[in-house]
Order: sequence, then structure tokens, then C-alpha cells
Amino acid sequence: MQKLLITGGAGFVGSNLAISFKRDYPSWHIISLDNLYRRGTELTLPRLRDNGVEFVHGDIRVIDDLERVGAFDLMIECSAEPSVLAGYGNSPIYLNQTNLDGALNCLEICRRRSADMLFLSTSRVYPMEVINQLDYLQKKTRFALAPGLNRSGVSAYGFSEDFPLTGVRSIYGATKLCAELMLQEYIAAYQIRGVINRCGVLTGPWQMGKTDQGFVVLWMAKHLWRGRLSYIGYDGKGKQVRDILHIDDLYDLLRTQIECLDELNGSVFNVGGGQANSVSLSELTTLCQEITGNKLNITSAPETRAADIPYYISDNRRVRDRTGWKSRKNIDLILSDIYAWLCQYEEMLRPILE
Ligand SMILES: NC(=O)c1ccc[n+]([C@@H]2O[C@H](COP(=O)([O-])OP(=O)(O)OC[C@H]3O[C@@H](n4cnc5c(N)ncnc54)[C@H](O)[C@@H]3O)[C@@H](O)[C@H]2O)c1
Repeated sequence: MQKLLITGGAGFVGSNLAISFKRDYPSWHIISLDNLYRRGTELTLPRLRDNGVEFVHGDIRVIDDLERVGAFDLMIECSAEPSVLAGYGNSPIYLNQTNLDGALNCLEICRRRSADMLFLSTSRVYPMEVINQLDYLQKKTRFALAPGLNRSGVSAYGFSEDFPLTGVRSIYGATKLCAELMLQEYIAAYQIRGVINRCGVLTGPWQMGKTDQGFVVLWMAKHLWRGRLSYIGYDGKGKQVRDILHIDDLYDLLRTQIECLDELNGSVFNVGGGQANSVSLSELTTLCQEITGNKLNITSAPETRAADIPYYISDNRRVRDRTGWKSRKNIDLILSDIYAWLCQYEEMLRPILE
């Protein structure tokens, strides 16, 4: 590897990956390309520069911006409108143009440069229509899958890659699935190599959390600075469950994937914190209270938002069996890392996250 291109490289995932790769592979030329669409991404620019990562202001919707980067060996495609709520109540144009057309531009530039691609996809490729119809128990603080579910791709471990893909999944999820399909076609047609990672919730320092994306950071920031929070949907009790993965654990996996790209070429993996790192909003509240010492009066908005789901946990067994990877940072470590980061950079972060 000589040159690594990270699209969305000023965003939460992209900037953290760029800096970690540069730390561990100092001889690599690493380029972070981003159009700074996400509010707060501009704060990562000095950090990229100080860590030896080259920043290129560019837009993946414009293929010439990608052309300008010149030859490279591998792309990690992290640019996106990453909100599952995008397009509901507003236009889906930006979402489609970035996640669909932009992703196609990224593939096309990989073809022209004979470069490989690691693609950041999402658990939201699995149809919410089907996930919503599963049977759930209401426990005291969270939803749980009803025992004895007999459906392909879902078990006590969570959702596996065998979960059926037919059904409505959100516009965001559909754009990501389309991009996945096209990457598979490019791998077959043009001999580029690639891996698809369907991630659950990713989090950690430098995530500019907001109500529609990055809820773990948002929750901690609101507790720390005594902001306002609401449990939205599913009767407003905060019982929705997700698994969460620290960005450093994702980095470890991508590093392995680069090292073993020949063996892993064409693979599709569910990647997340798994059952052990799952949390409901109500449980997250308790943890944030313990860490910050602050208790908020969280309001309820019972009506469920479009594209929400009550429960998602990644079944990581395939990626673990194929690569030996498993996450190392548990929820306590994830939250204490986020808390320390918020405290360290309070002045800079508060105007954005508060
Ligand atoms: N964070 C998560 O929980 C999560 C979960 C599953 C999948 N993902 C995927 O991981 C990837 C990274 O997400 P993230 O959490 O870092 O989000 P992010 O919003 O922090 O990063 C995305 C970056 O892409 C940039 N961008 C947007 N449109 C662009 C365009 N047209 N051209 C160039 N850059 C553009 C944004 O400015 C931003 O910096 C995305 O593909 C997302 O779908 C994220």
C-alpha cells in the first residue's frame, strides 16, 4: 500500500480511521476527502493535519473531484448522508445523490485506478418492515426478542447476514444496499477487490452526535451540559435497543481486512458490538447519569418516527469466524472515552453538541 483514499475522511468514522492508519503505517500517504457537509466535521481538519493526513476538499458527487486525487491503491468509502431519517419530511435528493450516485462515482474511480474498496454499509439494509413484525417482549428497561422465534437470520445472537432482504428498509438503507450490489458487480466485472461491512451503531470521540444520528454522543453531551432529551417513539419509554461499537474496534477490523484482502474479497459482514454491547435508551440514561452525576428530566414523545425500529443487535459470528476479530471495548469503556473527550474539548464542542 502506498496511497489510501478515505472518502468522508473528515467525518467521524473517516477521520478516526485516517489517523489510526497513519499512526500504525507512517509510510502510507493517506488522503481524507470530504465536502464538509456534516456540521462539526471542520473541527477535525487541524487534527488530520497534525497527524500527517492530507485533507482534500472534494465532493463524491463530482467525479472530477475524485479524479484529481490521482492514483491510489485502496479506498475506504465512508462518505454519506448517514441518517436513516433523511428523506422523510424533506427531499431525498442529497441522500440519493451522495449515497447512490456518489458511491457509483467512488466505484468508477476505483475501477479506473485498479484500486480496492472497503465499503461502510449499514445494518439498515435489513428491512424495517420485517424487523418491526417480529415478536418482542417488553422488559423493564428494554425490548427483547421473544424466545422461540423461528425465522432465518435472527437468533439470541442478534441479526445475521442470512436475514431476508426483501421489504421496505428506509431510503437510506436502500441507497446503501444499492451501493453494495454495485460493489459486488464491480468486483466480478473489473477484478477490483472489496469487502462490505454492515455496521450497527458506531460511536466514540469525534462523533458530532445529533438527534437523527450519533445518539450515544448526543445522550452523553446532553447529560454533561444539562440539555433537553426526549424518548421518541414506542410509547416514549426509551426501550429501543441497539448494539454499539467503538470506532477503535472498527479500525482493528479494517486493518485485518486490508491485510487479508485476497481471502476476504467479496465478503459481506455484519459488524457491531453484539449482544454484550447492547443498550436501550433508558439504560443509556442510567449510565450517563452515573458518569456525569447529572439527572435530566427526559420527556416522552410516544409517536414512533418513520424508519425507526425497536431492536437491532449485530450477530458478529461470521466476521469473527472468518477474521478472528472481536470487539475489545465494552460499553463502560466506550462511554468513559466519550465523556473524557467531551470534557477535554468542551469549549470547542459545546456549541455544536449542546
Ligand atoms: N456512525 C454510525 O453509527 C454508522 C453506522 C452504520 C454505518 N455507518 C456508515 O459509516 C459511514 C461513515 O459515517 P459517519 O458516522 O462517519 O458519518 P459522518 O456524517 O460523521 O461522516 C460522513 C462524512 O461524509 C461527508 N460527506 C457527506 N456528503 C459528502 C459528499 N457528497 N462528498 C464528500 N463527502 C461527503 C460528510 O461531510 C461527513 O464528514 C457512512 O457511510 C455511514 O453510512 C455509520
